[in-house]
Amino acid sequence: MPTLNDIRSTFLDYFARQGHEVVPSSPLVPRNDPTLMFANSGMVQFKNLFTGVEHRDYKRATTAQKCVRAGGKHNDLDNVGYTARHHTFFEMLGNFSFGDYFKSEAIPFAWELITRELDIPKDRLLVTVYHTDDEAADIWKKVAGLSDDRIIRIPTNDNFWMMGPTGPCGPCTEIFFDHGDKYWGGPPGSPEEDGDRFVEIWNLVFMQNEQFEDGSMRALDMQSIDTGMGIERVAALLQGTNDNYATDLIRALIEASANATSTDPDGPGKTHHRVIADHLRSTSFLIADGVMPSNDGRGYVLRRIMRRAMRHAHMLGAKDPVMHQLVPSLVRQMGAAYPELVRAQPLIEETLRLEETRFKQTLDRGLKLLDDELSTLPEAARLPGEAAFKLYDTYGFPLDLTQDALRERGREVDTDGFNSAMAEQKAKARAAWSGTGESADLAIWFDLAETHGGTDFLGYDTETAEGQMLALVRDGAVVDTLTAGETGWIVLNQTPFYGESGGQVGDTGWLRRLDDEDDQAEVTDTQKMAGGRITAHQVTVRSGTFRRSEAVALEVDHARRARIRANHSATHLLHEALRRALGPHVAQRGSLNAPDRLRFDFSHSKALTAAEITQVESEVNAFIRQNSAVTTRIMTPDDARAIGAQALFGEKYGDEVRVVSMGRLTGSGKGSDGATYSLELCGGTHVTQTGEIGTFALTSESASASGVRRIEALTGEAAMALLRSRDAALAEIEALVKVTGPDTVARVSTLLDDRRRLENEIAQLRRDLAMSGGAQGGAETRDVAGIAFLPQVISGVQGKDLPPLIDEMKARLGSGVVLLIADTGGKAAVAAGVTADLTDRISAVDLVKAAVEALGGKGGGGRPDLAQGGAKDTENAEAAIAAAEALIGA
Ligand code: ALA
Repeated sequence: MPTLNDIRSTFLDYFARQGHEVVPSSPLVPRNDPTLMFANSGMVQFKNLFTGVEHRDYKRATTAQKCVRAGGKHNDLDNVGYTARHHTFFEMLGNFSFGDYFKSEAIPFAWELITRELDIPKDRLLVTVYHTDDEAADIWKKVAGLSDDRIIRIPTNDNFWMMGPTGPCGPCTEIFFDHGDKYWGGPPGSPEEDGDRFVEIWNLVFMQNEQFEDGSMRALDMQSIDTGMGIERVAALLQGTNDNYATDLIRALIEASANATSTDPDGPGKTHHRVIADHLRSTSFLIADGVMPSNDGRGYVLRRIMRRAMRHAHMLGAKDPVMHQLVPSLVRQMGAAYPELVRAQPLIEETLRLEETRFKQTLDRGLKLLDDELSTLPEAARLPGEAAFKLYDTYGFPLDLTQDALRERGREVDTDGFNSAMAEQKAKARAAWSGTGESADLAIWFDLAETHGGTDFLGYDTETAEGQMLALVRDGAVVDTLTAGETGWIVLNQTPFYGESGGQVGDTGWLRRLDDEDDQAEVTDTQKMAGGRITAHQVTVRSGTFRRSEAVALEVDHARRARIRANHSATHLLHEALRRALGPHVAQRGSLNAPDRLRFDFSHSKALTAAEITQVESEVNAFIRQNSAVTTRIMTPDDARAIGAQALFGEKYGDEVRVVSMGRLTGSGKGSDGATYSLELCGGTHVTQTGEIGTFALTSESASASGVRRIEALTGEAAMALLRSRDAALAEIEALVKVTGPDTVARVSTLLDDRRRLENEIAQLRRDLAMSGGAQGGAETRDVAGIAFLPQVISGVQGKDLPPLIDEMKARLGSGVVLLIADTGGKAAVAAGVTADLTDRISAVDLVKAAVEALGGKGGGGRPDLAQGGAKDTENAEAAIAAAEALIGA
């Protein structure tokens, strides 16, 4: 009996042998179709190949595609658990031709695969075709030898497949399996077709048209094939059942659920186990593809599924969280085919455990409230919308969870009442809201968040995607269009652009209209608005017109983002290296992660020593070279702190935090081998392996505020450029001093010593020259009232040269007064000296002041034995000498 995993391989191998490229499943969050909540069939990732907009280097492909139908148009959530074939998550196997083969090959491929490879008995098979498609009917007759009554013509849209209201489409043929008369039901097209007897297993779509918004349809230039086989249904029939939940893979999950809750898998809790098994798959795969539980958009759908599963676990009597315990068995079943499950296992487990722990606290009280409400109502009456809203608002019960709980009691909810209670609350919240005046807090952004919900961020996994423009804003007002030359803001339902936060700058890049790729808007910045709920792209339209509700292709500037990522990850390594080098008091005080540099402010009271800087720089580079994987997990702030994650002091965190870890400790000999080096709470984008950072070069260390130091650094190419320019400067110095290597330092230091010595020598020579006849106006000692007075006018010396000259002159006199007036090159410097025996009679300060005044200047100062001053020139030197002389004689 083939297992589900065998069937998947058989299918993919078969089409690989027929020249098909085996393409991995696309993520559940469609990046190329913003109108779709989740990938819901195999063709989603190939949509643009059918219309000829996109080309790849293969024309045939085969996939096993992850699909979720739990929100939006295809919503199977309510039925899951109660029926044999409804799932929120399923796998669709498909083969695709993009303008290569068509009907006459697609049908034989399908027939060969199911009858030869999978050995499904021919007499249990029948097919449907679109009523006008004679060609397909003829091929079936020829290839399969099916009698006319087994080729059923269907006139309805059941056999004309459309992806959605617009897009590629075409007639289809469906293959059905007859489970036999022990099941009730009739063949397709009959009034009993919805029974369990005849089950559709494979749909082959002949893609030949494209449907447009205005209702028109045109023939596509090329004819293509899109097929979808529900693997769970095929597994069921090959395993002798018609219940998908009895197949090996899902049964294993049901048994895991029974084990974890110590209950009977087939007992009274059977439905609960089925719900849990199904929801385990959808929630785990969604988390692995980057969806996180939240209160709007995809995150809310995830939360609804999680909470629904958790209520069923609760019904089984589980006291502790259950869902996360089942993840290992899912990974065992599906991890080989979908490696993303293995990669994300810790994230999935923690996210489930967190949600269940938190939800458990209100689940009991909510269910009790529900019982109390019901007991006051007449038999079979609907639950009032008010009560359902209270459960939603106070206990976090999504509407469908309440409906699910009521279903067991045969009751319904007044959904209109629920919706009006919800609308009323929103109106109140809006009326109560008042902005802070910050532009990001402007009422307009809150209104937009209220109307459209938040923006889904796809940028952890991808840097290109499609998005739908929900609102355009120009000059603080909502507008319908932005045209070439205009600047404004665009809000989309989803985006890979990172809005500035946590020190990481906003992304830049391009928006292109899908209808005409030449119509482009340049994204010059990305900001988070309305308390972070909305991401707004600041754009300048370069060409064309951008209109609200249209879809656009989004492309982040990859090279710039890669540099930002490297800088952000390097900042984490730097933080940890600083903590280890300087002590646990080191805490982040601010940071900047820009494309061209990084800056990190941290608490530390003194400058780093050269040795500390070297240690930190080397350690960061060592962890870069280690090239370990960078991983992220979501947990409660308390759990994050418990495992030692670094959080920003005083920063407010929500209920959930993202923990980014990088680096492995090895060989420390303290039992820390394999432990994580850096653990930080962070919402930013990071490299996947530390090696991508390349190189880390610290460029400056300085004080930023009291008790806060600042480090600036470069990574990757910028660090290399810095090192290269340092090298070039060194090479230039080497060329100038004509030595290389370590000798350069000795040479430069010798040159500097030489220079200092020569400067001293020059100064001495100048003084000697000044004293020996180089002086103007002679140097003659005069006798002024019995005191020896030696005035002198000199040039070519500086003010600072005068005091030693004064000392020398005083020594020569033995007892007396000296006055120097020096032309320093455009200015006059004055100095006077009085020998110690005369200072009680004459003050050098008075002498300088008098001389300076005679020179046309003002001021001067010093001690009684030595004073200095300055004036603009030496023109009146004689008058200055006379003034000094007059003072001595007085
Ligand atoms: N795209 C087709 C389907 O989903 C094959 O049924």
